[in-house]
Amino acid sequence: MLQPIFLELLLFSNNYYDSNSPQNNRIPILTDRKVEGKRSIVFHATSGAVKRVWFLVKNRTFVHPDPTTKWVYYTPVFSFFGKNKKELEEEVETMKKIDGHLKEVGGSTRNLAVRAREYKNLISKKYTVKVRRASGGDFEKKIRDIKTSLNQRIKFGLNLLSGFKNLHQANFVYGDPKPENCLIYNNRSNNDRENLKIADFGKAKKVESDRVLSYKGNTRFAPPEGTLSKSGDVYGAALILIRNFEEEIFKNEKDNSKTSLYTVPNQDFDAKASDKLRGVERFVVEHKAFLAGNPGVSLSSLMKRKKMGKLTDIEMKAQQTAMHDYITLLQFRLENTNLKSKAKGLCDLLKDMTKANLKSENSFRIDIQEALQRYRDWEKLPSHIK
Ligand SMILES: Nc1ncnc2c1ncn2[C@@H]1O[C@H](COP(=O)(O)OP(=O)(O)O)[C@@H](O)[C@H]1O
Ligand SMILES: [Mg+2]
Repeated sequence: MLQPIFLELLLFSNNYYDSNSPQNNRIPILTDRKVEGKRSIVFHATSGAVKRVWFLVKNRTFVHPDPTTKWVYYTPVFSFFGKNKKELEEEVETMKKIDGHLKEVGGSTRNLAVRAREYKNLISKKYTVKVRRASGGDFEKKIRDIKTSLNQRIKFGLNLLSGFKNLHQANFVYGDPKPENCLIYNNRSNNDRENLKIADFGKAKKVESDRVLSYKGNTRFAPPEGTLSKSGDVYGAALILIRNFEEEIFKNEKDNSKTSLYTVPNQDFDAKASDKLRGVERFVVEHKAFLAGNPGVSLSSLMKRKKMGKLTDIEMKAQQTAMHDYITLLQFRLENTNLKSKAKGLCDLLKDMTKANLKSENSFRIDIQEALQRYRDWEKLPSHIK
């Protein structure tokens, strides 16, 4: 029984670690399964806390998602009392509700991956969810890809904000913004133009009147107020945009190991960021003003999470100042790329999206509608991009 597992580990160590994407460092599991009537199809999976993600692969020696298949499958990771199964079922329920609400109010799901089909026992006799495969992979991978052009980055930004705008229109909050939760699809009917969709609705919630919900998503993209709200999504969206555009700077660096705009000085330093993190994600982990921890669970990240939602206005203001300094630096560096004078408009918008909500100063973050409108106006400005 053990032998095939060792064989699989051996195979993976040779040909899988070809991507920088953090979740791709997880060890995938290869097995032969019967799926939708076809026998002996080999799968490869990445696993999160709740769901295991399965791809079809063509053969065992060259382990990549089969480019000819349209689908990806989710099954729950084993848990006692079927907790993860319930969570996955709830996620699908949320996806369906978002889809339904948007149909009612005439909103668009173009930038939301909310279509899914459920099966009682498609894989390993487990509850299985079938979704469209994003052939471009997740956004973190695309952001890091030096082949991603500035024009594509600008379009992805628009997709991202449109996705959040529609989600908020359906009266849902997302609650776990990060590039790995956004997927890149190729639109065959539109000259293979790539389209970004927000996916992974595991933390998404319907907005209830006045009830304050605590933020349960990743800590790096969490807003200073540490609560789950539409406004918090706007903050997280801004950080995703920062990751998107700062890689335009990194890709032009001669030394590719330089993945930071800014070295946090000793007096502001908190904890060493994981080597897997780049740019603003490194910055928020290393800077003491933020409650951001490295991916995964550790004692220090748990302690930081405990403080979430409890910061004073002064502490939140310190976060705002640190983030705005980072964005100013981003602007200076982007002015040396093809964005040139357009960099300022983008960075002014990012600052308004990352404001701390400070009652004491009557200063508040903009909402997603305003952010999208300003991004659209900005995008249309004359550019120097060839
Ligand atoms: N439809 C899909 N197409 C391609 N890759 C996917 C798809 N769904 C998930 N993935 C990959 O699996 C990873 C984890 O999926 P996600 O839905 O975010 O699960 P988790 O809840 O475990 O974070 C994503 O970051 C992405 O790399
Ligand atoms: Mg995820």
